Amino acid sequence: MTIRRGAQRLGLPRLDRRQFLAAGASVSLMGLCAFPRAAAAATAITAGPASITLDPERGATPVLAYGGQVPGPLLRVRQGERLQFELHNDLDEATTVHCHGMRMPNPMDGVPFLTQEPIEPGTSFLYDFDAVDAGTFWYHPHLRTTEQLDRGLYGVIVVDEPEPPRVDRELLLVLDDWRLKDDGTIHEDFGHRHDLSHEGRMGNFVTVNSAAPGDVAVRAGERLRLRLLNVANARVFAVNFGGLSPQVIAYDGQPVAPHGLADDRLLLGSAMRADLILDMTGQPGDSHAVRDDYYGDGPQGLFTFRYSQDAPLRDAPLEAPIELAANPIPEPDLQEAETQEVLIEGGARGFMEEASFRGEVYPARKLWREHRKAWALNGVAFDSPLMEPMFTLSLGRSYRWVIRNDTGWDHPMHLHGHAFRLLSRNGTPVPRRPWLDTVLMHLDETVEIAFVADNPGGWLFHCHILEHHEAGMGAVIKVA
Ligand code: C2O
Ligand code: CU
Repeated sequence: MTIRRGAQRLGLPRLDRRQFLAAGASVSLMGLCAFPRAAAAATAITAGPASITLDPERGATPVLAYGGQVPGPLLRVRQGERLQFELHNDLDEATTVHCHGMRMPNPMDGVPFLTQEPIEPGTSFLYDFDAVDAGTFWYHPHLRTTEQLDRGLYGVIVVDEPEPPRVDRELLLVLDDWRLKDDGTIHEDFGHRHDLSHEGRMGNFVTVNSAAPGDVAVRAGERLRLRLLNVANARVFAVNFGGLSPQVIAYDGQPVAPHGLADDRLLLGSAMRADLILDMTGQPGDSHAVRDDYYGDGPQGLFTFRYSQDAPLRDAPLEAPIELAANPIPEPDLQEAETQEVLIEGGARGFMEEASFRGEVYPARKLWREHRKAWALNGVAFDSPLMEPMFTLSLGRSYRWVIRNDTGWDHPMHLHGHAFRLLSRNGTPVPRRPWLDTVLMHLDETVEIAFVADNPGGWLFHCHILEHHEAGMGAVIKVA
């Protein structure tokens, strides 16, 4: 296969920030969705250095990017179609691509050494698999992830339903944060000890689609489908719609019975997504701020819906149904499910006494001092994807995991290759038992999840606060 470099040269659509935020606006307010689709034949995507402007008040920010843009090119196929893209590595180090949340054959999962060899600089790798689930997913590296992802390597994958709900427009909103210096460059303190053992690498500059909080133009009466993604290394967003009442139709790409949010507030830990239906019920000329209020430092603006002066598109909200058809995920048999426990320990403020690493038991302090591992799952600190599996699951069998967070921190825990149902939190049943690929666990919380181990191979289970994973919070699961 010849190596093709760069999406640009193939004439693939490139979205600038405004188009990305409001694609379709100029095309047709009635269009179902107007995002350009990646070419059906294998798209070529180059990972390499680029420069973008995040904060106009600082200088340009040198980043790493897919196809020269952050977020990278939108990959969009219909459910049941093949997703194909050839990743060319123009970085000066090896990389891989993980299509987060997509259920695919193991060799396509992008975990170095476990599912593929690293893609060395100057070489390419073809990712090619059926998009079995419709939904909102994303892609990012899985090698030196804390740095490669943080520097800008990520992009969105949309798999369209055969019959998407009727909306006037779709908005992709990619939330991230950056640790910027005054001159606009990214702080290079990756893997800082404090970040490893505390809350991860928090940025000092929040962006939506790589721009500082700004306006989103809307028209009164229109129905939007929002696809929100949190691609930050560590930050949790509590997206507060304050007074607007979106209906959630999917979490992590997986359909859920439509429902409103408690307090109009959507919690998204690192890697998590939500699809929302939002009827713009305000009047021409109105504006409505959407803020993040997760941390104790007061609400931070994310974006402002600004209504045009145009007459309302309709007088009453559309009555068209918004519920999505289920994806073909096998239902776990809770009666027959085998129960397994996962204990999360460690970190600053934690009480982990010891953990094993590479087959040797260490007192926690020594493990930190000698190997910079601060966390453990079931008493074992993550080493590499080649380590012994934490569990070997029987192919086709149902499992119930009781996961206990015995630390002083939140952890968005992510399972590769499968979607799981979230059954309960601290013993309280979770309404609708949503399918997820990442569950945000609060400190001292115990959750129960269930899934059918239907996808053979070695898979990762890890915290998506990338510094936590780096510092030990991960494990390999084998399904055979
Ligand atoms: Cu978003 Cu292990 O990945
Ligand atoms: Cu964590």
